[in-house]
Amino acid sequence: MGIIFDETNKVFLLNTKNTTYGIAVTDGMYLNHLYYGRKLEDTNIRYLLRENEPPFIPSVNQREKNSFLDMAPMEYPETGMGDYRESAFCVRSEGGHRASELAYQSYQIVGGKPELEGLPATWGGEEDCTTLKLFCRDETLGMEVQLLYTVFEEEDAITRSVIVKNAGNSSIYLEKVLSTCLDMDDRNFEVIGLFGSWGRERHIQRMPVGYGRQNIASFKGESGHQEHPFMALVTPETNQDIGEVYAMNFVYSGNFIAQVEKNQFDSVRMLMGIHPEGFTWKLEPEEVFTAPEVVMIYSDEGLGKMTRSFHDLYRNHLIRSSYLHKKRPILINNWEATYFKFDEKKLLDIAEEASKLGIEMLVMDDGWFGHRENDDSSLGDWFVNEEKLKGGLNKLVEDVKKTGMSFGIWVEPEMISPDSELYKKHPDWALQIPGREITQSRAQYVLDLSRDEVVDAVYEMIANVLKSADIRYVKWDMNRQLTTIGSFQWPADRQGELYHRYVLGVYKMQERLTKDFPYILLENCSSGGARFDPGMLFYSPQIWCSDDTDAIERLAIQEGTALIYPVSTMGAHVSVCPNHIIGRVTPFETRGNIALLGTFGYELDITKLTEEEKEAVKVQVQNYHKYNDLIREGDYYRLASYAENGCYDSWMIVDKNKKRALVFYVQVLARANAKSKYMRLKGLDPKQYYQIDGKRYLGSTLMNAGISVSAEMGDFRSKLIPVEAI
Ligand code: DGJ
Repeated sequence: MGIIFDETNKVFLLNTKNTTYGIAVTDGMYLNHLYYGRKLEDTNIRYLLRENEPPFIPSVNQREKNSFLDMAPMEYPETGMGDYRESAFCVRSEGGHRASELAYQSYQIVGGKPELEGLPATWGGEEDCTTLKLFCRDETLGMEVQLLYTVFEEEDAITRSVIVKNAGNSSIYLEKVLSTCLDMDDRNFEVIGLFGSWGRERHIQRMPVGYGRQNIASFKGESGHQEHPFMALVTPETNQDIGEVYAMNFVYSGNFIAQVEKNQFDSVRMLMGIHPEGFTWKLEPEEVFTAPEVVMIYSDEGLGKMTRSFHDLYRNHLIRSSYLHKKRPILINNWEATYFKFDEKKLLDIAEEASKLGIEMLVMDDGWFGHRENDDSSLGDWFVNEEKLKGGLNKLVEDVKKTGMSFGIWVEPEMISPDSELYKKHPDWALQIPGREITQSRAQYVLDLSRDEVVDAVYEMIANVLKSADIRYVKWDMNRQLTTIGSFQWPADRQGELYHRYVLGVYKMQERLTKDFPYILLENCSSGGARFDPGMLFYSPQIWCSDDTDAIERLAIQEGTALIYPVSTMGAHVSVCPNHIIGRVTPFETRGNIALLGTFGYELDITKLTEEEKEAVKVQVQNYHKYNDLIREGDYYRLASYAENGCYDSWMIVDKNKKRALVFYVQVLARANAKSKYMRLKGLDPKQYYQIDGKRYLGSTLMNAGISVSAEMGDFRSKLIPVEAI
C-alpha cells in the first residue's frame, strides 16, 4: 500500500518503491513535514519533529507560538501567523487582512488519481497510484483547503496540488496558492536549474545554496526560454550515478516560481507554484480554486535515476497522445527551406524529393493564411491564402499525398495581428489595458483567452481548417510573451486572474483539439522551446526544442531537456549548413545522429541537397527505422557532457529488457596527439554478453572498463555504436 496512516503516532507515510515521504499532525492541528528520502520500513518516525526541543509546540508553550511557527517544518506554510520564511499560501479577507491558520480536520485515502479540473496533470488508475487528501480549515474565514498527494509507487514519484474552497459567507482573495513546499535540514545542498535564452534553451546550471532566497521564475505568461519550471536540490557529491536529489517540476505553462530558502536554523524550504506576482483570485462563497500540480522525485542514485523516473512517469502517466508509443512520421518542415517565400509548386517539389528519400510527411509552416508574406500581418485570419496556394488547401494536401507523403500544418492560435481582419472586427479581443498602447512583439498582440467567446471563435476557425483537408499533424506555435494584461470581460477585482485564466484558455483549446482530432499528431512550440513544459506534454507528445538547429548547440539544449523530459518528446531536425542561426558547418552525419535523439525530421530545402547528402538522408532514415523504438521507449543514460568537459559528449539508450542499447558519441573538438578514450557504459545487464562491432564483451566489463572510442581527425565527428545481447 502506497499510503499508510499510523493512528497512534498521527503519522502519514507515503511510500513508493524506493522512497518515503512523511507527514505528522502536531498539536491536533498543524501539518508538519517529517521526512522525504530513502524508503523507511517503520512508521515510528514522529521523533523527527523535535517536539522536545524548545520552543515547543504552541499548546505546551503559548507564549512562543511565533518562534514555533518560524522553525517547525511546515507542510503547507501560510502568511500572517508567525512563520517568517516564504509562505506557500496567502489569502486576503474582504476586510483586507492577510492571514490564515489552516487546522487539520480529516483525511481520505483513495485508489487512483482524481482529475484536476481544467488542468493538465498526471493520471493513473487504482493499479498505478494512490491519493491522499488532507482536509484543513480556517475557522475565521470559513475556508477549506485540501492538500492532495498522489503516490506513483513504480515511478518513485509523488505529485502534489491544492484545492481551496470558500465555505464562508463573504468573498476572499487568494494572493498566493503555491502547489508544494518541502522543508528539510540543509545538507550543503546545491541547486540545479535550467536557464537560457531564445535559441539557447534549458542549459543546466548548478550553484551552492546560500542563506536567504534563490529562485527561478517566469512572469512572461508562459514558462519561457530563460528559466524553467524545474528545480532540484542535490547533495554536493551528486553526479549522474551517486548523490541525493530532490527534484520538482511544475505541470503548468504560465507564470511560475521555484524557490529555495536557507534560514537561520540551517533548514531549507523548497517551494513551487504559480508566481504570486500578478496573481489574485477572487473566491465568492462556494467557489473553488485548484492549483496546478507539482511532480516531486527523490533519487539516492544521482541525477541519472531522477531522469529515468521523470521519463517513466511522463511516458506512463502524463502524455495522453495515441502517438506516444508509436514511431512518428519522419517529417520535413519548410520553415528554414523557404521562410515565408513559398507557393504550392515549391512545397510539392520538396514533397516529391523528400518522399523519394523515405521522408513521410510535409509540414507547411508559417505564411499560408490571410495575406501573410512576412511576420507583420494576418494572425487570426485562419483562412488559406489562395494567391499563394493556388487551388486551395485541400488540393495541395491531395497533391502532396500523391507523392506518398502525409500533410501537416503550422498555426499560432493564441495571437492576433493588428493588421488582420480579425482585429478590425474585434479590437477588444486583444489583451490590453484601457488608455495604454498595447505592447507589440513580432508585430503581434495576444488574444484575450480568458474569454470563452474568444476561445470558441478562434478554435472554430482552426477546426474548420483542420476539417477542410486531410491534415495529420499540427505545429501549435506561440511567438510572443504576455504584456498589457487587461481584459474587457472582467471587473477590476478579477483582473489579477488574467494570467492564469489565459493559460486555462490555452488548455481548453488544446483539450478540444485533441478530443476532436485524435488522429492529429500535435507538436507544441513557442519561438523554439519557450513552452517546453509538462503542462504542454499532457496535450502533445512532442514539443519543438529550440529554433537553434545547429547540431553542436543542440548538445547542451537536448542534454538539459532530457534531464527531465523523455527523449521521444524533443522536436529535433536536421538542417542545412552553414547553420541559419549561428553559421557553423558540421558534418551531415553528425546532424542526423544528434537529431535521432529526438523526434527526428528535416528542416531544409531538400531539392538543393547534393547527391552525396541525399544518400546520407537515406542512411539516416534507415537508422531512424532501426533505432526509433529503442530510443523512444528505452532508458536514457548520460555518459559524458560537452557542456561540462568542453570536448566531447556521449549518451546511451538501453532497452527496458537490457537486450539492446545504442551509444552516441560526439567528438566536438579534435585535439592534437589524442589517444583513444574508454567510455564506461551504463544500464546493461552485468552478466549478459553483448556484441559490439562483431566482438563479444561481458556487460560488467563494458560498464566497469568501458569501450574504446578512437580519436578522429576533425571537429564535430560522431558515431552511433549499437550494442546487442548475444
Ligand atoms: C517559431 C518557431 O519556433 C519556428 O520553427 C517557426 O515555426 C516560426 N516560429 C514561424 O513563425
